[in-house]
Amino acid sequence: MNFEGKHIVVAITGSIAAYKAPELVRQFIKAGAEVKVIMTPDATKFVSPLVLATVSKNEVLYQISSDEVWNNHVELGLWADLFLIAPCSANTLSKLANGICDNIVQAVYLSARCKVAIAPAMDEDMYAHPSTQKNMDTIRSFGNIIIPAAFGELASGLIGQGRMPEPSELVNIAHEFLFHKALTGKKVLINAGPTYEKIDPVRFIGNFASGKMGIALAQHCANLGAEVQLVLGPTTLTIQHSHINITKVVSADEMFNACNTHFSASDIIILSAAVADYKPVHIAEQKIKKTSSEEAPSIQLEKTKDILAFFGKEKKAHQYVVGFALETNDEVKHAKEKLHTKNANLIVLNSLQEEGAGFGIDTNKITLIEKDSELAFPLMSKKDVASVIVDHIIKAHTCAN
Ligand code: CTP
Repeated sequence: MNFEGKHIVVAITGSIAAYKAPELVRQFIKAGAEVKVIMTPDATKFVSPLVLATVSKNEVLYQISSDEVWNNHVELGLWADLFLIAPCSANTLSKLANGICDNIVQAVYLSARCKVAIAPAMDEDMYAHPSTQKNMDTIRSFGNIIIPAAFGELASGLIGQGRMPEPSELVNIAHEFLFHKALTGKKVLINAGPTYEKIDPVRFIGNFASGKMGIALAQHCANLGAEVQLVLGPTTLTIQHSHINITKVVSADEMFNACNTHFSASDIIILSAAVADYKPVHIAEQKIKKTSSEEAPSIQLEKTKDILAFFGKEKKAHQYVVGFALETNDEVKHAKEKLHTKNANLIVLNSLQEEGAGFGIDTNKITLIEKDSELAFPLMSKKDVASVIVDHIIKAHTCAN
């Protein structure tokens, strides 16, 4: 790994994981980077600025001004090719999301024009808290990268997600982020959300899908440089990103047509939408009225086109097709059947039996099913799930091509 000629500002905040920061800086320097360290005043309680100044071979700043000298945060922001905040505490995350500027780390962040990567590290419950997750969403929407916290033993003694990844891993991620965007030049088609099948002008057959998972996938692929076509069923959620083009649809037929327009040009196809399996044979032109008869009317249904099965059959060797399976029983068995019958490269299984997984919520628990493997993951935020799925696709797709 070579960082020759690259300038990295490492910002350290008040989290116990700060003890790993000198090793992180040392590894960057060993790989040829020039590193300047800045710290929040709280971080200096966890790790000594003297140690960091010694390993970085540069002065360490932890105040906006010191001894009547104003520290030029704008200059630091312009100097850096990468601004890495590691570890990033819950407090700093909140300030980053809200543009607060009460220390040198915030000042450099607000003036940085370079790429920004953030490695949150905190206790599991703090990491999972909706306000922390919301702050991470906001920060991602500014185009910054959030490096998901790792699983393992935490300072509290609990075991869960919240650890800062090891320095060697952060160095790998920084290298990828600086030199290569894994999906640059790739075209990714994603569908998401529910479909509504009209019965009459006021009623439809629909489902509870929100599109959250597919939107998170679209954002992650776009952040990695892909050109994303997102075909979105009826949902109030949306996303704005310069690399995402959204086509809004309502019915399963519309979803098929919109996806089919982009299918042949796509390298990776991720079908996360909850597409209706059946639609009414006839859509009544006028509202169906209640009659005085006790007999309930019946609605005749017909099958919709199975988009995943169609693309699974049509896919060319360079295309990688991912389906989802939402199951309530015999989950792995059903997911494996879908992998086979729909000829997908990968099925992402979610079970409605799992607490914290399902419609409309921010977390998910998945198992990745391939022909010869099953990989189960713990409960994570949908953003982190998106990153796990996309990492897996990148590895599998790169190996195949
Ligand atoms: N799917 C699709 N077109 C359909 C129905 C489903 O492309 N008309 C896709 C979904 O987007 C998902 C996968 O097929 O990627 C599995 O969807 P799921 O609802 O779990 O399974 P179904 O095939 O609909 O089977 P069942 O409802 O019996 O579980």
